[in-house]
Amino acid sequence: MDEFAQHEATAPRVFIETYGCQMNVADSELIGGVLRRAGYAAAAGPEDADVILLNTCAIREHAEERVLRRLNDLARFKHARPELRLGLLGCMAQHNRAALVEKAPWLDLVAGPDSYRRLPELLGRARFDPAQQAARIDVRLDRYETYADIAPAHEGGVRAFVTAMRGCDRFCAFCVVPYVRGRERSVPPEAILADVRQLAARGVREVVLLGQTVNAYRFGDADFGRLLRLVAAVDGVERIRFTSPHPADMSDSVIEAMATESKVQPALHLPLQSGSDRILAAMERGYTVGEYLSLVERTRAAIPEIALSTDIIVGFHGEEEPDFRATLDLMAALRYDSAFSFKYSLRENTRAFKLGDTVSEEEKGRRLAEVIALQERISLERNHALVGQHFAVLVEGPARRGGGMLAGKTPQFKTAVFGAADWIRPGDTVTVRVESATGHTLHCALV
Ligand code: 5AD
Ligand code: SF4
Repeated sequence: MDEFAQHEATAPRVFIETYGCQMNVADSELIGGVLRRAGYAAAAGPEDADVILLNTCAIREHAEERVLRRLNDLARFKHARPELRLGLLGCMAQHNRAALVEKAPWLDLVAGPDSYRRLPELLGRARFDPAQQAARIDVRLDRYETYADIAPAHEGGVRAFVTAMRGCDRFCAFCVVPYVRGRERSVPPEAILADVRQLAARGVREVVLLGQTVNAYRFGDADFGRLLRLVAAVDGVERIRFTSPHPADMSDSVIEAMATESKVQPALHLPLQSGSDRILAAMERGYTVGEYLSLVERTRAAIPEIALSTDIIVGFHGEEEPDFRATLDLMAALRYDSAFSFKYSLRENTRAFKLGDTVSEEEKGRRLAEVIALQERISLERNHALVGQHFAVLVEGPARRGGGMLAGKTPQFKTAVFGAADWIRPGDTVTVRVESATGHTLHCALV
C-alpha cells in the first residue's frame, strides 16, 4: 500500500488499472498524485472503489482489444452500483475519443494523457448523461504540459519510474504515439531531482528515467547526458537506468555518461525495428543499418560489460522475405541479450496506415515465431556464458516461484535468483555467483 492510501475513511476511493508501457505506470502514479491532492484515497480493489480508472495503451490493436474486453466486464460493476464512476484514460482514450463512448455508453469519462490535471473537475461533473456527451470527453493535447509541479503517488519498492520527458516528435511511420501523446517536451531538471530526492529518502535505490525518446531530453542547455549526471549526484540513489532511447538521439554525451558515471547501469534498450535498410527507410526511423551498427560498436567499446536489448517489428508494409532475413542476420550478428518482438499492427492516423498491410497475419505469425526462437537461443547462450561470474544484485524481494528464494537484478538488468538469508533485505546489494542459467533467469549462489 502506498502513501496515497493514508487518507481518512470518508474520502472517495479510486482504483487505477494500468495497461501498456512504463510511461503508463508512471502516469498512473501521477494520476494518483493529482487525485490525492484533490482529496481522494486509494481503493484496495475495483470492488470497493467509488471511481475506477483504466489507464490504457494504443500501440497495437491487441492492446486495445484487451481493454475493450475489460470495459465489458466493468459494465457489470456499473450496473450493480450506478453511482460508481468509470473512466478510460491514456493513449486509447486519446486515440478513440467519442467512439469509445459509443462502444461503451456506461463510461463516465474519457481523458487523454494531457488532461490529468483536470481529472478532479472532470470526475466531479462526470455523470452519465447522453445529452452531455462532450462534457465527458477531454482529449486536448498540450504542447507544454509536463505536470512538473505534481508529486506522483509512487508505489513502494526498491525501483521507481521518473518521467523525464513526454510525447514524441519522431513520427515513425508505424507508430501512433506522436498522435496520442503529442509533442515532445522535457520535465525541468529541478522537478526531476526533487522527485528523485524524495524517492531516495523513502528508500528507493534504483531510478528509471522515462520518455518515449528519453535521450532526446533537453531543458535549457541540459541534454540527457547532463541529466544522468545530475541524477547520479543525488545521495542514496545507487542505480540509474533509462528507457527508451532512440538510436538516432544516442549522442556521445549519453554514451560518455554511461561509461564514466558508475551509477548509470550497463544496460541499453536500443529499438532496431528492422534489419533492412529499405524497411527502415519506409518506417522513417531516421537511421540506416550501418549507422545502427556503428552506434552499437561505439557503445560496446565504451561500456564492454553492457547488455543490449531491442524491439523488432515483423511484417511491416512491404517487408519481403529478404528484408526479414536481413533482420534475422543482424540479430544473429549483434547477439542482443534480449528482444521484444511484435507483429506489425496497422494503426489509424499513422503515416503507414493508408499503405495497408502486405503481409498476411499467418505470415507475420511465422516470422514472429522465427525471431523469438532465434533470440531465445541467443539469450540462452549469452546467459550460459555468464556461469561462474560474479554480479552485484540489487535485491527486490522473494522470487516469483517462491521456494525461499530471493530475486533481484544484475547491473545488466538480468533477473538473478538465489537462496534467501535472514540478514538480506529488499534494497540491499549482494554479490552472487552464477551457477546455471536459462534464457530469462540466472540461478545464483550468494558469495
Ligand atoms: N505495430 C507493432 N509494433 C509496434 N510498435 C510500435 N508501433 C507498433 C505497431 N504499429 C513497437 C515498436 C516500439 C515498441 C514500443 O512497440 O517496436 O519500439
Ligand atoms: Fe513511436 Fe518512433 Fe516515437 Fe518510438 S520514436 S514512440 S516508435 S514514433
